[in-house]
Amino acid sequence: MAQAMKIAIVDDEQDMRQSISQWLALSGFDTETFPSAEEALKSVGQDYPGVIISDIRMPGMDGMQFLKKLMSVDSSLPVIMITGHGDVPMAVEAMRVGAYDFLEKPFNPDRMTELAKKATQVRRMTLDARALRRELGDGGTIMKKLVGASPVMERLREDILDLGQADGHVLIDGETGTGKTLVAHALHAVGAKAGRKFVVVRLAGQDEEALGAKLFGPIEEGGQQPFVEQARGGTLVLEDIEALPMSLQARLLAWMNDQGTPPETRVVAICNLQEGGRTCEDCLRPDLFYRLAQMKITLPPLRARGEDILMLFTRFGDQFAEEYGCAAPAVSAQEAAQLLQAPWPGNIRQLINIAERAVLQSRRGSGTISSLLMNDHDDVEGATMTTEGKPLKEYVEAFERMLIDNTMRRHKGSIVGVMDELCLPRRTLNEKMAKYGLQRSDYI
Ligand SMILES: Nc1ncnc2c1ncn2[C@@H]1O[C@H](COP(=O)(O)OP(=O)(O)OP(=O)(O)O)[C@@H](O)[C@H]1O
Ligand SMILES: [Mg+2]
Repeated sequence: MAQAMKIAIVDDEQDMRQSISQWLALSGFDTETFPSAEEALKSVGQDYPGVIISDIRMPGMDGMQFLKKLMSVDSSLPVIMITGHGDVPMAVEAMRVGAYDFLEKPFNPDRMTELAKKATQVRRMTLDARALRRELGDGGTIMKKLVGASPVMERLREDILDLGQADGHVLIDGETGTGKTLVAHALHAVGAKAGRKFVVVRLAGQDEEALGAKLFGPIEEGGQQPFVEQARGGTLVLEDIEALPMSLQARLLAWMNDQGTPPETRVVAICNLQEGGRTCEDCLRPDLFYRLAQMKITLPPLRARGEDILMLFTRFGDQFAEEYGCAAPAVSAQEAAQLLQAPWPGNIRQLINIAERAVLQSRRGSGTISSLLMNDHDDVEGATMTTEGKPLKEYVEAFERMLIDNTMRRHKGSIVGVMDELCLPRRTLNEKMAKYGLQRSDYI
């Protein structure tokens, strides 16, 4: 075996851990053992170079919770669950959540080795593909449209590339304006169906009967082909899937069941999450939900993206400034803090809107970003003080980067000017610029 893949064995019973570990070590695997899910999570994360074998019944965090946690960290990590005799429903549930496979007690050692071998091969392929993609950069232009360097955005890019290449249906959910439609495009563009049909259908606010005919037929004389036909062989995007009436849910499911595996047409269902409202799972019949949610992408709200907020604001500010032929608005330190802490109920769409208005204001030479934010949400003071569990350090760093970036802009790259204004010694300023990837030459 080239550089052995690891196998993490998680079981609260020491005898069990050891016997599995010994057996697999004899078969040439590099094993490590953990007495609890909590312990394992300290070592096993995204890009873990191996696979996990975990017991389901454990005190503290049990195997199912552990599995869900792992899937949220790295959805392609193979996890093999150990189930006791008669745990069939649990095994089924585990598979639904994303387990790679399960092993029933008492073990058949050969099956265990076989599974471990297959799972590690799959893992190696995933990691190799990831490494290759990282080397090649993100490729497609559409991926470049996705601005953001926060950990959630990095994960989103990985997910798009992983799921894009898979064949199955995908469910995307998230609040309004978080980029769901953009991500649906990206999934199509990076996947095997790129270049084939890409058909977007809005399901909300339509008459049930008319919608049924538009989706599945029959077509009226001289009318358009039904959407499922238009999308054949490509991607069918169903916007606002939560609005699909029950009768049409049944038809959609029946149509999907006729698609074969892998499906001829890929469905990307988009669900709009209202704050505190019902989720997609509440609105869809369970069989349809599970069918769609085998692969799921949840877009984080803008307020959970930390420093990306400033990056997006700067990016769109520059873009509009170019469009309107004027300078990008200067963002004061206080305004940067307000941008970071605003609740952003309209997410990225709202941010784009504010960036555009800020550019227009600064062209007129009046108004501030603060006033735009205030007008957008009157309760800005009360609503902004939450930090949503983000570390203070993240705020401080994003803020510092923004402040230096802005001051450099205003001083057109004059180091002395910036040192003076920010009361920073030259060395500290240089260090901070290096840390944040800011280059003087960009401001001259
Ligand atoms: N990460 C991102 N980087 C840059 N622009 C983005 C990003 N995500 C979304 N956008 C832009 O934000 C706007 C809103 O995105 P999009 O329409 O995809 O959101 P949505 O979640 O589908 O919204 P809705 O719920 O209203 O359908 C678009 O102009 C899109 O190009
Ligand atoms: Mg949309």
